[in-house]
Amino acid sequence: MSTTAHSRRDFLACAAKAAALGVSGTAGLSGAPAFATTLSQSPAITADAGVIPYGAAARSDALLSDPSYRAAIVANCQMIVPESEMKWLELHPTRGEYSFGKADAIMDFARQNKIEVRGHTLAWYGAMPTWTEAIADRAEAERELVDHIGTVVSRYRGAIPSWDVINEPLADWPDGESLFRPSVWATRLGPDYLDIALRETAAADPDARLVLNEYDVEFKGPRFAARRKALIGLLRSLRDRDVPLHAVGLQAHLFADRRIDRDGLQELLAEFAALGLDVLVTELDVIDYRLPGKIGERDALVARIAGQFLQSVCDVVRPKAILTWGLSDRYTWVPTYFKRPDGMANRPLPFDADLKRKPLFDVIEQFRRKAL
Ligand code: G3I
Repeated sequence: MSTTAHSRRDFLACAAKAAALGVSGTAGLSGAPAFATTLSQSPAITADAGVIPYGAAARSDALLSDPSYRAAIVANCQMIVPESEMKWLELHPTRGEYSFGKADAIMDFARQNKIEVRGHTLAWYGAMPTWTEAIADRAEAERELVDHIGTVVSRYRGAIPSWDVINEPLADWPDGESLFRPSVWATRLGPDYLDIALRETAAADPDARLVLNEYDVEFKGPRFAARRKALIGLLRSLRDRDVPLHAVGLQAHLFADRRIDRDGLQELLAEFAALGLDVLVTELDVIDYRLPGKIGERDALVARIAGQFLQSVCDVVRPKAILTWGLSDRYTWVPTYFKRPDGMANRPLPFDADLKRKPLFDVIEQFRRKAL
């Protein structure tokens, strides 16, 4: 059913985009997966030994159009994660057709600037193309999921060392009946979709670190406690079925009007450790729409909240990476859903809209460099 047509147009577009990003693209015009070869020969990504790597979600359109943003990414990030370019909607917009232009442009930019790329994401309910709504049964769902993961992960084999294979599997408030967030995968395959996705990713790139990425497990409150409990149960069930998994991603979208549950978080981290799972902080930002407007005061509160979270985590485990969900307030998802009532711009990220460093970056630096 699904052919993997990598159109030449895609590669030319990618090479053009890569050139515009100030990189000499080496996209394979032959249609072969370019990155499987060039990137595995790229110089090892170096980072300060003993320092936790820092990175940010990046946007291909901004990398292309905004030189100051591009320079800030290169200057401050050891890692980037495509904010949208490796989701189904971008990569697999039509059944049987893949579109790698934007993803390849980010990969080429990263290679040229010796920045590591995290893959995000292979099995999620979000950013799904409409054709997947027509997936009618278990066999078809498994076929499409396996084809997508096999095609995408093998293309970047050796070039993406860590994948958010499973993103946000839990229901908003998981309970006995509904543990899983509704998605085509959960509906058609049930819990098996996690096994299928993780096993297929491991088969496509045996060296990739497989990550399950989740949010809203950081705070005090019954819903968050229920999510932590459900996450632990899910991770144990994967372990009991010998499903390959290496790490959990704590997204850490920190709502400023919630309280960090230090004890609950540390119990969760202890469970991860007992299961032999690493931890990454994958999408850190502070959702500030209910904070006071005054910028100096707000930036200090944002930094303090992130510091409380990072202190709770780093007191018990050394995250493999700390990434924010964007580098600059110039490009953040937060106002899409959490605009401030006073009309002021949100300030959730380490650099402001003028790319000026903020206290949040200082706090991240402090924890990155803290010897455990
Ligand atoms: O690329 C199109 C553009 O062509 C079009 O003109 C424009 C207007 O419709 O939409 C653009 O696509 C948008 C895409 O971001 C790229 O900017 C989508 O509409 C928009 O829904 C999409 O939102 C992203 C969202 O995930 C859904 O994929 C956000 O930027 C991104 O920050 C958000 O990231 C998620 C993580 O993947 C998972 N964790 C939560 C996090 C925040 O929601």
